[in-house]
Amino acid sequence: MSLIPENIHPIFSKTIQRADKETLLNQHAKVIWLTGLSGSGKSTIAIALENALHQAGFNTQLLDGDNVRTGINNNLGFSDNDRLENIRRIAEVSKLFVNAGLITINSFVSPTNDVRQLAKQIIGASDYIEVYVKASLATCEARDVKGLYAKARKGELKQFTGIDSPFDEPILPQLTINTEQLSIEQSVQTIFDFILPLISTTN
Ligand code: ADX
Repeated sequence: MSLIPENIHPIFSKTIQRADKETLLNQHAKVIWLTGLSGSGKSTIAIALENALHQAGFNTQLLDGDNVRTGINNNLGFSDNDRLENIRRIAEVSKLFVNAGLITINSFVSPTNDVRQLAKQIIGASDYIEVYVKASLATCEARDVKGLYAKARKGELKQFTGIDSPFDEPILPQLTINTEQLSIEQSVQTIFDFILPLISTTN
């Protein structure tokens, strides 16, 4: 059986739109952009959130340093310009995912209001949900999950966010998750509850 409808040559048929893909997937696509210091809990929350969404039947894509800075952005470091380019490319890739109907979860330090503004502008304000994963520098440094703060304090790692590179507090995030007060489960539940009406088609 041919999959191409009779009488319609494929080149004359209409391009499949984002809305068609969202209908097929039964969801509204959005970008959930987690910003915060290294060690604030972004990646842990992002992974758990993707699991929760998947369990609930949503189609997702997770972007974080592991799959981006080792791949498409493996030529970028941590200078201000490289961070801007990092975020610009991530935002462009996110836009492609959103146009494919996917709920995209991004976990990046995205340290300044300028880079977050750029991401919002590229993705489009209505598709961009900014979540500030908040923990003080002292807490992140005490956690020092990857041992990077210790290296930065010793001067072995330059331009480290919070030490000798800036982190601007987000101005108007849609959501702030204080990981000094909330457990991972509570953090994920809070984000899940906030985005559910935005990604569901039944509302
Ligand atoms: S961003 O600033 O460009 O948004 P991104 O989220 O991709 O940063 O990468 C941050 C991760 O890279 C940190 O969690 C940390 O593990 C690692 N890293 C290595 N060097 C630095 C640095 N100088 N500043 C911040 N993070 C660094």
